Amino acid sequence: MTRIYTLVNQKGGVGKTTTTINLAAYLAKLGQHALVVDLDPQANATSSLGVDKRTVQTGTYESLLNGEITPASILFNERLQLSLLPSSPSLAGAEIELVDEMGREFRLKTALESVNKKYDYILVDCPPSLGILTVNGLVAAKQGVIVPVQCEYLALEGLGQLTQTIGRVQSLLFPDLRVRGVVLTMFDPRTNLANDVVKEVNNHFPGQVFKSVVPRSIRLAEAPSYGLPISAYAPTSVGATAYESLARELLKGDGVSVK
Ligand SMILES: Nc1ncnc2c1ncn2[C@@H]1O[C@H](COP(=O)(O)OP(=O)(O)OP(=O)(O)O)[C@@H](O)[C@H]1O
Ligand SMILES: [Mg+2]
Repeated sequence: MTRIYTLVNQKGGVGKTTTTINLAAYLAKLGQHALVVDLDPQANATSSLGVDKRTVQTGTYESLLNGEITPASILFNERLQLSLLPSSPSLAGAEIELVDEMGREFRLKTALESVNKKYDYILVDCPPSLGILTVNGLVAAKQGVIVPVQCEYLALEGLGQLTQTIGRVQSLLFPDLRVRGVVLTMFDPRTNLANDVVKEVNNHFPGQVFKSVVPRSIRLAEAPSYGLPISAYAPTSVGATAYESLARELLKGDGVSVK
């Protein structure tokens, strides 16, 4: 069975991309066939996995327009045993180009149907907006959305808007859309604020917050500039431990057993 999760939060810089690639890297390390889909024109997931977006010939953009993913679009990283459907700058145009297209909200879902049998896990990294690209991500999220929330002042701000968008997608496009879980990111145990945010988010999303909390870690911020996930860049760092723990928690919750 293929599980498709979309990482979404229209707030910028909360850790969507960091969580997507590091969670995917650990899922792969734990023996899962995993695919990262970069649905963001910024192409941060693509570059964080060591791919220069300017060299991308076909990727998410072409897949959305054609409603199909050709094998040539998927880049397989041997070292990481991880697949990537890369973004490219042309994806920025999709937001406008898709507006007049039939079934525009279902393009990614349909495209993923052409490859999903090959993967155990597909993680989709969204841009920081609630436009047509993110809506495609929501409609494709067969097993739900994962919402990274940064442990900072006003962490919950904007989540009402996200909940509303999820509600609209549920009523108009995909009734079974659910929130798989909230991931707390950039946690700094030294501050009272961070601890307050953890409590606040748990109160707001009872039973829906992953126990694995991602600490603020310089290693996590450095890794993308080497084109590596934390599992390869600094496997013994606190950030690495947190993302491995998150991967194990997700697998356990999904009923997948690993060593
Ligand atoms: N746990 C962490 N500790 C330290 N730095 C982090 C951590 N998580 C993410 N960062 C850094 O914070 C910045 C924002 O993270 P990231 O790109 O993952 O967020 P995003 O939600 O994908 O942003 P955008 O909305 O622009 O797509 C990046 O520079 C990243 O390296
Ligand atoms: Mg991002």
